[in-house]
Amino acid sequence: MTARCLIAGNWKMNGTLAEALSFADGLTALSNDGSSGVEVALMPPYTLLHSLRSVLADKGVQLGAQNVYTECNGAYTGSISTAMLKDAGCKYVILGHSERRNTIGEGNALIRRKLDAVWAEGLVPILCIGELLEERESNHTNDVLKAQLSILTAADADKPLVVAYEPVWAIGTGKTATPEQVVETHAFVHEVLVDLGADRQVLYGGSVNGSNAQQLLHSAGVDGALVGGASLQAASFMQIIEAAK
Ligand code: PGA
Repeated sequence: MTARCLIAGNWKMNGTLAEALSFADGLTALSNDGSSGVEVALMPPYTLLHSLRSVLADKGVQLGAQNVYTECNGAYTGSISTAMLKDAGCKYVILGHSERRNTIGEGNALIRRKLDAVWAEGLVPILCIGELLEERESNHTNDVLKAQLSILTAADADKPLVVAYEPVWAIGTGKTATPEQVVETHAFVHEVLVDLGADRQVLYGGSVNGSNAQQLLHSAGVDGALVGGASLQAASFMQIIEAAK
């Protein structure tokens, strides 16, 4: 059963083994029975997946990865496959994060191939979408989000998928979208998803922290959060989890 709300921590390129173990130590164990309606997941760098698997499971936290390659195995130096992520205990895989779209140049066609690879292994993709500041300012937000979601088809409707709306100008900047922008944009994203065959959980991401989580997470159409900076410390991550309950 999918929880009402998913709080996912994206560590990006941060975290040593010592930091990760101390983080896990600082987490209060979450009930696994779904009674709180909140599911928690952590996406550390690949190097920490195996080490965190059982400590996070003991705390009721799911494991995920920040990216994956399209192929199962073979001569792809430096890449990680969905089978490897499954073997490491992952449930979720983030795809299309803005840092991969905008810094590394990943486009829709590659992200679609990754989606298929993730589904083929039985994992759950968290597909990130979001507009740049100039796109919002020139009133192109909806067009951009629609184009990023256009990799989905009606044939995907029965496959598991979480969408994360992350305005690029809010990521790591300390700026969040206003409550009106969040409600309006999430309503649009849900509408596009329904048109594409199935509504999905839609997370908000972009400078979510212990102080703004309550308002963001209880806004209409928000089904959780994808958290970067504030997921690096157990105390601030716990504040967000508490706000979701
Ligand atoms: P942030 O990152 O919370 O540090 O803004 C969010 C993300 O990139 O997923």
